[in-house]
Amino acid sequence: MSDRTILITGAAGEIGHGLINALAGQPGVRLIAMDLREVPEELHHKVDSVHQGDICDRAFIEHVISLHRVNEVMHLAALLSTSAERAPEQAHEVNVQGTFNLMRTAAEQAQAYDEPVRFIFPSTIAIYGVEPSEKDELGPIREFQALRPITMYGANKLYCEAMGRYYGRYYRSITRGDRRPPIDFRCLRLPGIISADTLPVGGTSDYVPEMIHASARGEACVCFVRPDTSLPWMMMPECVEAILKLAKAPPLARCVYNVASFSATAGEFAEAVQRHFPGAELSFEPHAGRQSLVDTWPADVDCLRAREDWGYEPQWTLEQAMTQYIVPTVRARYGQAPAPEGAIT
Ligand SMILES: NC(=O)c1ccc[n+]([C@@H]2O[C@H](COP(=O)([O-])OP(=O)(O)OC[C@H]3O[C@@H](n4cnc5c(N)ncnc54)[C@H](O)[C@@H]3O)[C@@H](O)[C@H]2O)c1
Repeated sequence: MSDRTILITGAAGEIGHGLINALAGQPGVRLIAMDLREVPEELHHKVDSVHQGDICDRAFIEHVISLHRVNEVMHLAALLSTSAERAPEQAHEVNVQGTFNLMRTAAEQAQAYDEPVRFIFPSTIAIYGVEPSEKDELGPIREFQALRPITMYGANKLYCEAMGRYYGRYYRSITRGDRRPPIDFRCLRLPGIISADTLPVGGTSDYVPEMIHASARGEACVCFVRPDTSLPWMMMPECVEAILKLAKAPPLARCVYNVASFSATAGEFAEAVQRHFPGAELSFEPHAGRQSLVDTWPADVDCLRAREDWGYEPQWTLEQAMTQYIVPTVRARYGQAPAPEGAIT
């Protein structure tokens, strides 16, 4: 792939941090960071340009994309599940209209320069809507099953997947002739992501990162779902690696892919956290509303498509993730000494 000018929206968020840190300094890569809030100072020297503004503002998007002649978009900006359920109409504006503004402007730019713009879109397991009675029977869910989201966030993301498929495959199919579609759309359906570096806000899978960060700080944590609640997970470095791998893959036959490393219950995470942070005070007080959302998400996802098409490989099991990533990173973050030799970590 030739030089890449990558616009990262939602750059100040959790995944934005991870992507900027991974991409900074790579040869032939120019990074343009965009967010509604201020992009933290520590990221400024890692990117070529920073723009603070709203993806719902089309003029702003047009200005940034044309100013830098962007040829790749990593579109992370969104209102996540819990935040979206608190303000569903605003979530629709940001998650759908904002995404449309970006995709439409990227398509116009692609047509102007006769070069497709690559568009990487993190979707979510919230696009699924699994009935409790189906969970065991379905097993690891495949990309085409149970597409019945019950949240505004899930509905927004599922629609944006369809919009991406349209711009990437079928755009103006009646009048386009033999010109290529303007967008090279690539989408990962992410599971719950756990970062040991940053604190999550507004996601319904935040209960695990909350347990980890609170326990590392020596604070008690009340988990807002039942211990038997099972979801697929991946660690932030794995998430970043998967996004970068998908972004660099050769042309793909399909555009939407499940990815996840392992599946685990809240209870299994609580036990692992207690093993590694002895004295951790964890309790469970399920919140009816948030539990009802998580209950419709699949306990596991099938990643065969991603493995076959672009070589996705899950990296860590729960225990490996604890020992190789979570525990050392959170200890360093909160200024704690590494565990003594022979300790479980
Ligand atoms: N973190 C997860 O567990 C997870 C799981 C599945 C999918 N995803 C998806 O990955 C993407 C990134 O997630 P994250 O965890 O980094 O989220 P985050 O909440 O940490 O970051 C999102 C960023 O988007 C910005 N933003 C919100 N509205 C905006 C607007 N109108 N204009 C410009 N910027 C705006 C926010 O300021 C924030 O910095 C999202 O699209 C999310 O749906 C995340």
